[in-house]
Amino acid sequence: MATAFAPGKCILFGEHAVVYGHPAVAVAIDAGVEVKLETSDKWEIKNDHYSNNFEEFQASKNPHIQHIIRNVFDYNGLPLKIKIKSNLFSSAGLGSSAALSNAMGAALHQLINPEDEINQIKLAKIGHSAEASAQEGRASPTDSATSSLGGCIVVSGEKDEHLNHVFDTSLTTPEGNREWSIHSVELHKNIKDSWLVLGFTGRAAPTGDMVSGVAERLKQKPELYAEMQAIENITKAGLTALELGNLEAVGIAMNSCHEKLKILGVSSDSLDNMVLATRHHSFGSKLTGAGGGGCMVALTNDPQRVAQEIELCGGQPLISKFGSKGAHIKKE
Ligand code: MEV
Repeated sequence: MATAFAPGKCILFGEHAVVYGHPAVAVAIDAGVEVKLETSDKWEIKNDHYSNNFEEFQASKNPHIQHIIRNVFDYNGLPLKIKIKSNLFSSAGLGSSAALSNAMGAALHQLINPEDEINQIKLAKIGHSAEASAQEGRASPTDSATSSLGGCIVVSGEKDEHLNHVFDTSLTTPEGNREWSIHSVELHKNIKDSWLVLGFTGRAAPTGDMVSGVAERLKQKPELYAEMQAIENITKAGLTALELGNLEAVGIAMNSCHEKLKILGVSSDSLDNMVLATRHHSFGSKLTGAGGGGCMVALTNDPQRVAQEIELCGGQPLISKFGSKGAHIKKE
């Protein structure tokens, strides 16, 4: 038997632009996905989001898991009983599929090699390959790296000399070859003491669809590439503010980032409503992740108040600290 947990993530700055090589800043959140594997006499799966019972494992319904079993590990052992428990909203921009891929990768590695702890960088790359295979080849390593490494992560198209460089990775996408450098950032005490409040609109929006929607709009209106560059400038300002622990400046950058994401066409009325409603008691707020539905995030020192505002708008709140621990094996 092997059990692993991987956290979800919240993108503070740079979603969508990061797919095109611009930088993004993301933090691991407290909620995540647990995968428990047991060998069995038949292939079965239970995902507590969808069912209370084990069902026959179907590759087409579980592309991330199938990719890891077959393409990454080329697993030929006994059939597996796969139990998935998640306290993340699903298809909501919180990195649930990367967390699932990472927890599956870590658990399968543990089952096959019980004496050998998985390397976090290798795991991040496994998670990224699963994301890319499920998203028509368009996926940045942001979700998988943040979930695997934990803490606060900067993903950018080139190495940033003033950050702690962790690894590089690349991917062939329909728009050409992309390379990313992954860095980690030490969070300032003011940031560690503050709270993120996520608000789920209740509407799931598959990341793959949102990412291909942006690709389509960029083809029709190439001037939107300038908005990607504007997001990069905001991301850099937001990162400096994060490092200095300047909550007000982080909030201003979050608000500006939301405006740019609106122009890219990835916001929605319910996201905009929650983003505006939560500004009364937060430093800043924006949609987070792929958008289209999914979640917004607010940075605040008054998480209960912000959670109430989200509920009043019809959303579901989730309160988290910044930068929780990355993917890990759970001892039984
Ligand atoms: C999804 O969490 C973030 C996007 O930037 C897609 C990606 O980075 O692969 C929208």
